[in-house]
Amino acid sequence: MMPLEYFIFVMITFLLTAAQCEEIEVFAEAGSQAVLPCKCSPLYPYIPAILWSKADTGTVWRKQRSGLQFWGSIWSPKVTQRRIKCPHSKFEKGDFSLHINNVREEDGGVYSCRVEHGDRVILKVVTLRITQVSVSSLVPVWGSDVSISCKVTPWPPGASVRWTLNNSPFVPQTGIASNGGTTKNAVSEKATARLTGNWTCVVDYKGKELRASAALTVKGVIHPSKDDTKVYAAVGSAVTLPCVFSPGLIPSNPVWEKLRPGFLFKPTPGRLPSSFSSSKLFSQLPSDQSASLKEVGLEDEGRYRCSGSIEGQQVTRNMQLVVAKIHSSVPSQAKGSETLTCQLTDSSEVTDYEWVHVEYDLNGTRSVGSIQKGKTVSVSKVSEENHGEWACRFYGKDGILGNVTYHIQRMSRLSGQKSVGVSHNTAAMVGLSFLLIVLLLVLAQMYKNHQRRKRIFQYPALETIVHTVSNEREERERNKVKN
Ligand SMILES: *[C@@H]1O[C@H](CO)[C@@H](O)[C@H](O)[C@H]1NC(C)=O
Ligand SMILES: *[C@@H]1O[C@H](CO)[C@@H](O)[C@H](O)[C@H]1NC(C)=O
Repeated sequence: MMPLEYFIFVMITFLLTAAQCEEIEVFAEAGSQAVLPCKCSPLYPYIPAILWSKADTGTVWRKQRSGLQFWGSIWSPKVTQRRIKCPHSKFEKGDFSLHINNVREEDGGVYSCRVEHGDRVILKVVTLRITQVSVSSLVPVWGSDVSISCKVTPWPPGASVRWTLNNSPFVPQTGIASNGGTTKNAVSEKATARLTGNWTCVVDYKGKELRASAALTVKGVIHPSKDDTKVYAAVGSAVTLPCVFSPGLIPSNPVWEKLRPGFLFKPTPGRLPSSFSSSKLFSQLPSDQSASLKEVGLEDEGRYRCSGSIEGQQVTRNMQLVVAKIHSSVPSQAKGSETLTCQLTDSSEVTDYEWVHVEYDLNGTRSVGSIQKGKTVSVSKVSEENHGEWACRFYGKDGILGNVTYHIQRMSRLSGQKSVGVSHNTAAMVGLSFLLIVLLLVLAQMYKNHQRRKRIFQYPALETIVHTVSNEREERERNKVKN
């Protein structure tokens, strides 16, 4: 190797003085096409001889004056499927540029182009630098270590590296590890959702910006995509607590827990609600570990955690169930009207409330009346058209979060039903008490009888004696009468 390099160096130095020469730098991202320029003033009438060579591997391609072409062994069309091309159509214009398709890291290096025609020799030296972003794992699991490195081969002296993620500057949490400014500038992070996206390494070099990109996807729970996502449900309704893993990901030992309040930093599992169900539906994919609550109660609000193990890595997602209910009160100064208030166990993300009256026509088609803004609404029960269903819709900054409904009943029917209900109950209670007393009396009597019999049986001999004595006495009396 050494003698060849030395030879090239000597040759270049020699030719530098003999012919016109300049040093050019070309940057190409791995996988793209690189064009290594080699241009001079038009050369006819002569047919030139062209030689493209690389400092470390020798001949790339050459063409003799006769028209015969040769490829270097590693560049042979048989081996590389014509990765290189020197378009003949441009020769007339004095353009002998070399095109390299699908460049690789090992293509980086110093090339020279030598054009010989007549007694003139033109030499160009081109440095090709390949930029590349490589990721330790293209689809790392949430929580695992991932490193993203920026390579430029050969490394341009004095260059510095910046990173952008989805086109905005990325500030690494652990700092950019720079390997002495030679070949590697890497970001090492714990994989989380914030690392997902398009990574671009920007190399600042001689006032130019060179770029290379790679896409990164972090495997884990994709829905909900963030921890502490709020799930809204109305009291008494059913709700799904989502927990969907990346497609094709099947977590082992999936677990659902309800976290006890007050343990923000070290969550402790508590009891799951009674209507909680994590059993899968047939339609559900193995990557979907969503659970449901059949009937949400006010006490079910709070934080829930879904977790599973992926490739030995524990992946968890916390979420918060927010329960909505309507509080109704009758203001003392305004009889015949009802005040409805929309209440949420956590309203920190709610920006707006609105109330609508839901109406049904004879066909059962639903329509909503006019919208009233605000958390509280005052409804006159005297007015017929206010009876029926009222819904409170609540909104966050990104749109509707949910709704909760309440029924206002006709005043007369409401009170009537109540009293009927009460009298029914009273009659039932009285009847039941009576039965109970009778039963108790019967039981008491039975017990008494039983006790008495037991007492007699305890002394059977005594009974016989008594019996005999009384019989003797009777006989004696009878005899007395006879006498
Ligand atoms: C109910 O449905 C029938 C037929 O579908 C239609 O002709 C009628 O107009 C509907 N009535 C109302 C009040 O929407
Ligand atoms: C309340 O939410 C349910 C479910 O999202 C929806 O079907 C219904 O139309 C909503 N009701 C109102 C009055 O907005």
